[in-house]
Amino acid sequence: MSFPRSSRLWWRDAVTYQIYIRSFADGNGDGKGDIQGIRSRLKYLKNLGIDAIWITPWYPSPQKDHGYDVADYLDIEPDYGTLSEAELMINEAHQLGIKVIIDIVPNHSSDQHKWFIQAVNSDPGSKARDRYIFRDGRGNYGEIPPNNWHSVFGGSAWQRIIEKDGRPGQWYLHLFAVEQPDFNWDNQEVHEYFEKVLRFWLDRGVDGFRIDVAHGMVKAPGLPDIEENLSSEMLAARRLPFWDQDGVHEIYRNWRRILNSYPGDRMAVAEAWVSPASRIALYLRPDELANSFNFDFLTSIWDIQDLKRNIDLSLQAIQSVGAPASWVFNNHDVVRSVDRFALGLRPGVGETTFDRHGDVSKLNLEIGIRRARSGALLMLALPGGAYIYQGEELALPEVRDIPEDRLEDPRWFLSEKTDKGRDGCRVPLPWSANESGSFGFSINEKLGKENSWLPQPNWWGNYSAENQEHDPNSTLNLYRKALEIRKTEIGLGDGELEWFNMSDQVLAFKRPGNFACIVNFGEAFKIPNGEVLIASTSIEDGILPEDGALWMRLA
Ligand code: NOJ
Repeated sequence: MSFPRSSRLWWRDAVTYQIYIRSFADGNGDGKGDIQGIRSRLKYLKNLGIDAIWITPWYPSPQKDHGYDVADYLDIEPDYGTLSEAELMINEAHQLGIKVIIDIVPNHSSDQHKWFIQAVNSDPGSKARDRYIFRDGRGNYGEIPPNNWHSVFGGSAWQRIIEKDGRPGQWYLHLFAVEQPDFNWDNQEVHEYFEKVLRFWLDRGVDGFRIDVAHGMVKAPGLPDIEENLSSEMLAARRLPFWDQDGVHEIYRNWRRILNSYPGDRMAVAEAWVSPASRIALYLRPDELANSFNFDFLTSIWDIQDLKRNIDLSLQAIQSVGAPASWVFNNHDVVRSVDRFALGLRPGVGETTFDRHGDVSKLNLEIGIRRARSGALLMLALPGGAYIYQGEELALPEVRDIPEDRLEDPRWFLSEKTDKGRDGCRVPLPWSANESGSFGFSINEKLGKENSWLPQPNWWGNYSAENQEHDPNSTLNLYRKALEIRKTEIGLGDGELEWFNMSDQVLAFKRPGNFACIVNFGEAFKIPNGEVLIASTSIEDGILPEDGALWMRLA
């Protein structure tokens, strides 16, 4: 794209900050994050220099999967605030020039959604049941699940219900927790319902949607068995009868029409764990979603070949449809990159307790932080937009030792406590160095580190925003400076990239304006002539150390 940034659609270049609402900031003192908390930290986000926020589900929910089990798509979870507070927050963000993206969860609802309650209380074959995926069981007594699919969180993907007559009856599909029944997207009413939901929030000013499990809504006709021993991980290495079915694209073409009918370039971003990159391109066609998380990038390990291959594949795939790339290293579902980069962990593939939490005895946080800082400069210099997960700007490590009786992730329970799940990357943020108010997470100063919804470790305050604020070399200030440069540097954001060769251990590319990003995976080496704009580490005598990265203007 050679036209200037000011004339491009905002989301082609945007850096979006993911707010995991429960863990971001607690504005009412109950130990859980909320909308009031977000409002109180909007200035921090403005100073950080991001363009947009994505807020994880804030709808009324029994919180069996922390909001991804939605009981009512048209309201706000009382623990998080009210609809009018949400509207206020959207306006305040807009006044600061920050766009607001909200999460939408169309693959499944909560089992407390009124439709599901009606479905369970209605007869097999009824209109109410048809909004979800109910089937008779196999076996003489219907005692065997309808097929062999398993839930992403562990165990069968089917749950049997007790019918009105008190006998065991039909089964319903839940690709995730038991409390998250899958909608039936063959039912027209489901389509109409979600169109209404989109309009409801667009009318309230949101700038876009992050679409949960965007590759899962449509299931193959007949719900055929999968091969034995095939895992149901979110990352579908190949298409399965419940992942990446072609029918999803019709839904997105319709949603695109709705988005386009509103002023102000409303957008959507797909959470589609689809591989290879050419399949992702289908979601990015101009008449569909145009934006998706780059999970090939996220699942890279800290390895020059792996990263370069994934960057190349992604760039090739999007070129065919004219979409921008969107780079991401972290979110609320994967081990934090500080730990992953130190341990060589690859998230999302055959995760087990070991893979997820790694061999702690080998963990060297110093290396992890060094690499995560370099990763930030790499990600923010690549063509397109980027997503930052809250706490990434503080180089937060994973919390590996949450006491087992405090774990809340359904993955922990559905894996029969063999997989510790995702709580380790969801611990409430440390805003201040001192433990009071759960390290400044809560306005309630009496709350200690044990009292936020997930407990915080003793050392959490060392990473606090307060500690990093005045340290010019902190990761927080590295992000601030990089984002500031990114805003004015004409070659950054959407556009072209040109690799140049330095050595097989150095990843280096140019962007327009003689801009270069250099990441060193090997021994220290002398950088080319030019002006260093920012570096992840100190550069002495023009030497970039191992695991260091920098941006420079080439001479
Ligand atoms: C993906 C979300 O990111 C994850 O947190 C959630 O558990 C599943 N979708 C199910 O909604």
